[in-house]
Amino acid sequence: MKRLVVLFSGEGSNLLNLIQTLHQGPCTIVCALTNNPHARGIAKAQAHQIPVIVLDHRAFESREAYDRALVERLTPYAPDLVVLAGFMRIITPVFVDAFDIINIHPSFLPDFKGSHAIERSFAHGEYGGVSVHWVSEELDGGEIILQERLDKRANETLESFTEAIHSLEYRLYPEAIRRVLGL
Ligand code: GRF
Repeated sequence: MKRLVVLFSGEGSNLLNLIQTLHQGPCTIVCALTNNPHARGIAKAQAHQIPVIVLDHRAFESREAYDRALVERLTPYAPDLVVLAGFMRIITPVFVDAFDIINIHPSFLPDFKGSHAIERSFAHGEYGGVSVHWVSEELDGGEIILQERLDKRANETLESFTEAIHSLEYRLYPEAIRRVLGL
C-alpha cells in the first residue's frame, strides 16, 4: 500500500473524498496534518481513525521554522507522496525539497494562481477548471499532472459554478494520485 499524508486548512472536503476513494486500498492515509486548530477537516479524518497532527503556524517565527517542524513531524510517517488539499500556506524549499508533494488548484492553471481562484475565474473568464500539479517553490507554479477545463454554462451562478468545480476536484484528485503513484 502506498503511504499518503494529506495536508489541509479548512473544510477538508477533498480530504474526505480521498478517504472515500483511496484510503485502505490502493493507498493508506497514514496521517493528516493541519495548520488550523479549528479546521473542520479534523473531525472528518478522526471519524475514519486517521491520526491528525495540528501544527499551528502562529507558534512559529518564520515560514522556514514552520516548515522545519513540518518535515520533522511528517518524516516518521515515511510518505510516498504528500498531498496538499486546501492547505493555505506558502511553503518554502525546506518542505519542498523534503518530499514529493502535489497540490490541487481550482483554476485552469496558469490562469488565476493564488487565492479566490474560483471567484476570479467566474468573474473574468468564459471557463474555469481544476489543475493538479507538482509543488515547486513557485506558488501554484509546478509542472501540471492533470487538468481539466470547465466551461461556464448558461445561467451559471457563482454557487452553481463553485459546486461544479468541487465535483471536478473530487474526480481529478484521486485520478492524479493514482497516476503519479503508478496505481
Ligand atoms: C479546494 O477548492 C482546493 O482546490 C483549494 O482549496 C479548497 C479546499 O477545500 N486549494 P476543502 O478544504 O478540500 O473542502
